[in-house]
Amino acid sequence: MDSFASRSFAALFGIVAALGAAAACSSKSSGGVTAGGTDGGDGSTSDVGATPTDPPGMFHALQAELVATCGGAGGQCHVNGTFLSAPKWLAGPDVYATCRDYPGNIPASNDPLDSKLVTQVVHEGPALITTPDLFDRVRAWVVAEVAARGAKLPATDAIPVKTGSNTYDLSALAGGLTGAKLTFDATSSGKILTIQNMMITAPFAKGLHIEGPFYVIVPASGPTITDTTDGFAGTLDVSSGETKSFFEGTSVLTKWDPAGKLKIVFARFDPVFPDDAGPGVSCANLGAFTASAVPAFKLDLGSGNTCQTCHAGGNASAKSAMDLSLLDSAPASACQQVLHRILGKNPTGSQLIQTPTGAAGGDPSHPVKTVCPTQTTTDAGVQLCTPQAFVDGVTTWINAE
Ligand code: HEC
Repeated sequence: MDSFASRSFAALFGIVAALGAAAACSSKSSGGVTAGGTDGGDGSTSDVGATPTDPPGMFHALQAELVATCGGAGGQCHVNGTFLSAPKWLAGPDVYATCRDYPGNIPASNDPLDSKLVTQVVHEGPALITTPDLFDRVRAWVVAEVAARGAKLPATDAIPVKTGSNTYDLSALAGGLTGAKLTFDATSSGKILTIQNMMITAPFAKGLHIEGPFYVIVPASGPTITDTTDGFAGTLDVSSGETKSFFEGTSVLTKWDPAGKLKIVFARFDPVFPDDAGPGVSCANLGAFTASAVPAFKLDLGSGNTCQTCHAGGNASAKSAMDLSLLDSAPASACQQVLHRILGKNPTGSQLIQTPTGAAGGDPSHPVKTVCPTQTTTDAGVQLCTPQAFVDGVTTWINAE
């Protein structure tokens, strides 16, 4: 996991390595400027009066110092862009809006660590971190802007991409997603990274709903690059257990750093509880279901709680995950709800048993995830546990199915 500390350290390391590099855009040594205007600010470097809930106020309080540090002599660098066509991310008339909207400054991932401003190293100009006080205030402003816009988007870790096949584990993006992954083949040539055969796999028993994935490139050194243009628009739905093409399946990134890392960010990444086994799929052995599985769902797990009490409506999210409300009135429908949580002839591998027994393939957030040490679970106040009789009853049905 990246932290400000480690990234800052990396940035500092870059600075040390690059000491002596010409800092033509460092205007501190060539006379400060206030070009671009102070936009209502009084030029004061004090944050007094600016709160984290007032991002524009925070920016206005640091604007003069930021322009003096990054604008270059007479504003030739990031204000006017006359020096080496420097990007004009501090241009007027509204310096605040320019800086906020400049791509990558307030990163699309809503992760302040991806901000181009915060991660810049020494270039023709200074790295912001060489002025630690200003760096801290810019970072606080970025954090406030991101917080005002919304939560950090779901994202993979940033990992190096190797030539040939690559796998991103997606299981950490939400609970109970063991087995969810994204695979692709990659080749790179200089700054071009070609990604092909992108396939996504949804875990067993949960589907995935995905929207608008895009890339974030973390170069070995230098500012983080948010690449939304090479991502994908639209939505993708993957059924439980299914492997399918990931959007168009191909991306060509043109700002790649072969020594860098790549992260994939999702505008949305939602696990989807499938309603039932699907149209036209029904239980082959309803007799075994009613004889062995139905009584198992009614076993006391402690203090009178059963699978049925929560999953028939006692707990709304339990019911929406696996609906047992028709267990008594229409067992065929209840059976269809449960059917896609079992693996035929493989009871122990079935999610129906893995989840309430705390096995690796189950949902770790499930309220019941231990097997009872004894067969008695009726003591009030004990933590809920799954009796062996549940496993036995459901196993009998799964083997018959
Ligand atoms: C105290 C309430 C409660 C009891 C009792 C309970 N569950 Fe659940 N169950 C939940 C909730 C809440 C969810 C949905 C959220 C989650 O998966 O953590 C759920 C989800 C599930 C899922 C779906 C998990 C997934 O990842 O999609 C399965 C399978 C399941 N339960 C099986 C059982 C079985 C079998 C029993 C009886 C041995 C049982 N549950 C008893 C509350 C309960």
